[in-house]
Amino acid sequence: MIICVCKAVSERTIRRAVREDGIVSLRELSRECGLGTCCGKCVPLAREVLAAELAAL
Ligand code: FES
Repeated sequence: MIICVCKAVSERTIRRAVREDGIVSLRELSRECGLGTCCGKCVPLAREVLAAELAAL
């Protein structure tokens, strides 16, 4: 599922960034893939996905 339409970032990409690249914050995620840097509408959902993946580690 696409989370950030503007930057074409999927849920899978976020989960992989947490598991494989050690991403722990939305700021790092934005820096990595541009998520949330355009309209910002994806930020709440991206935050949820990030938190869920971090909790599952
Ligand atoms: Fe993510 Fe617009 S949907 S910045």
